[in-house]
Amino acid sequence: YFIVKGFRILDLYGLSTFVLSWWTEVQMGPPDPILGVTEAYKRDTNPKKMNLGVGAYRNDQGKPYVLSCVRKAEALIASRNLDKEYLPIGGLAEFNKACAELALGPSNEVLKSGRSITVQTISGTGSLRVGANFLSRFHTVARDVFLPKPSWGNHTPIFRDAGFQLKGYCYYDPKTCGFDFRGALDDILKIPEKSIIVLHACAHNPTGVDPRQEQWREISEVIKKRNLLVFFDMAYQGFASGDIDNDAWAVRYFIEQGHNIVLSQSFAKNMGLYGERVGGFTVVCKDTEEAKRVESQLKILIRPIYSNPPINGARIAATILNTPDLRKEWLEEVNGMASRIIRMREQLVANLKKEGSTHNWQHVTDQIGMFCFTGLKPEQVERLTKEFSIYMTKDGRISVAGVTSGNVAYLAQAIHAVTK
Ligand code: LMR
Repeated sequence: YFIVKGFRILDLYGLSTFVLSWWTEVQMGPPDPILGVTEAYKRDTNPKKMNLGVGAYRNDQGKPYVLSCVRKAEALIASRNLDKEYLPIGGLAEFNKACAELALGPSNEVLKSGRSITVQTISGTGSLRVGANFLSRFHTVARDVFLPKPSWGNHTPIFRDAGFQLKGYCYYDPKTCGFDFRGALDDILKIPEKSIIVLHACAHNPTGVDPRQEQWREISEVIKKRNLLVFFDMAYQGFASGDIDNDAWAVRYFIEQGHNIVLSQSFAKNMGLYGERVGGFTVVCKDTEEAKRVESQLKILIRPIYSNPPINGARIAATILNTPDLRKEWLEEVNGMASRIIRMREQLVANLKKEGSTHNWQHVTDQIGMFCFTGLKPEQVERLTKEFSIYMTKDGRISVAGVTSGNVAYLAQAIHAVTK
């Protein structure tokens, strides 16, 4: 009486009466290239296991680290008995102001003249996605986004899902494990006018390779020549050099040079607010009137996605940035995290030498920020994982933040074993 056809059951008249499944066509997808590493790490029972995948800071005992200024800000906020009302669509005003000031510098002409708009976002990813959606809707002259080769793994799906085509420009030189400056300039010169170019403001992810100031100057010139829209991603302010102003140099320089940039910021790493999801998206405009129009459209864009952002993390960040004592303590703590990472780079190289490795590991100490692009091949990465329970992304990136005085020798021993 019933015929089973495909996933439906049809009655005599061919009308479906009962659906067994709506999702038979949905194929199994691969795990996330970065967050999937953590899932695999968690399943491993080896007591020596190391998670060098996701970029999340650990203290020297290998434990997640809550900054002391964060704990103090939380106590201060709790003592105020604040309510939990919705934030405005664009987020917490005092956070947005402090967030933009942190990136641009408080005396920046753009802020003084009010020709920019900053909205609070759901950390860096949320900021990039709001930005990508905004550009997709209003920068309709370009459908191409140019990313450095390589770039953070999530950049591609963020811009692709917002409707862009992804293209690349030369960035990393595997021969030197450094920045391919000439290659980058040559490629940027060929980018069609008005396209979008993504720049990592500091501590490039995944390579840990940043342009020097004189190189940024030339890059700015070439981008001006090509009339490109610059999208800065600044997820690691403070983590590169330990100094938040130093790390924002490129962003400030580009603005000074007349680029009306868009900018994503994250407070995941520099305040350790990972799960609180705190970030900002800024659009630098021609004038105040333009900034007002852009703001109105950002609100229209955000409202149907998540209505308004979460309140707790923004309160913490704003309290730290706007309370002089806490801000001072934060700057010291950022510096402390950056310094520990630098020490681990040095210890890793020293231990590799001690193991007898004859390779040139200088790039490990030359590169900056949370990540080291080791140059390890996928099959070597696979051996590290299989034989030593050391987890990292397939491209050979290690999160140096996951290395400690306690496990650096084991890591060196393992790397030496797979590279000799
Ligand atoms: C990383 O690259 O590991 C971090 O930016 C975390 C993430 O969300 O991928």
